[in-house]
Amino acid sequence: MSSILVLNGPNLNLLGSRETGIYGSATLEDIRQSCEACASGLNMALDWKQSNHEGSLVDAIQSAVGVHDGVILNAGAYTHTSIALTDAIRATRLPVVEVHLSNIFDREPFRAHSYISPVAIGIICGFGTVGYELAITALARHLEQAEQA
Ligand code: DQA
Repeated sequence: MSSILVLNGPNLNLLGSRETGIYGSATLEDIRQSCEACASGLNMALDWKQSNHEGSLVDAIQSAVGVHDGVILNAGAYTHTSIALTDAIRATRLPVVEVHLSNIFDREPFRAHSYISPVAIGIICGFGTVGYELAITALARHLEQAEQA
């Protein structure tokens, strides 16, 4: 059975009340529950973390090695600033799917650059909470293919 980590960055703990016109009304707990259901339907184990701190996110990626087969990452605003996250993903070589609730290319120009995208296996953005389920499905397929190769 594959095991994945869903890792959420800063301010995502405020989902449900934070800028609902952009991020919707689902809470992070709602998203966690839909991710759990999606992962169990795909016969995958899921671990879940959120942190507002860049170093804790780096620690979580490093600690995923040997424990999880891949990571779903919504790095929040660190997407646009964090070379440390890029380096952690590159160093661990874990397959990472980058997720954003909003379409980061259709917002302020500073959001259109991601430090995660060059080291991610793929990106899903703009589909709201369903993006997490799409990302889990894509990661499951990627891991299956990697196993067969
Ligand atoms: C976000 C997009 C980021 O630009 C923003 O800083 C977030 C959330 C999203 O899920 O759409 O915190 O990652």
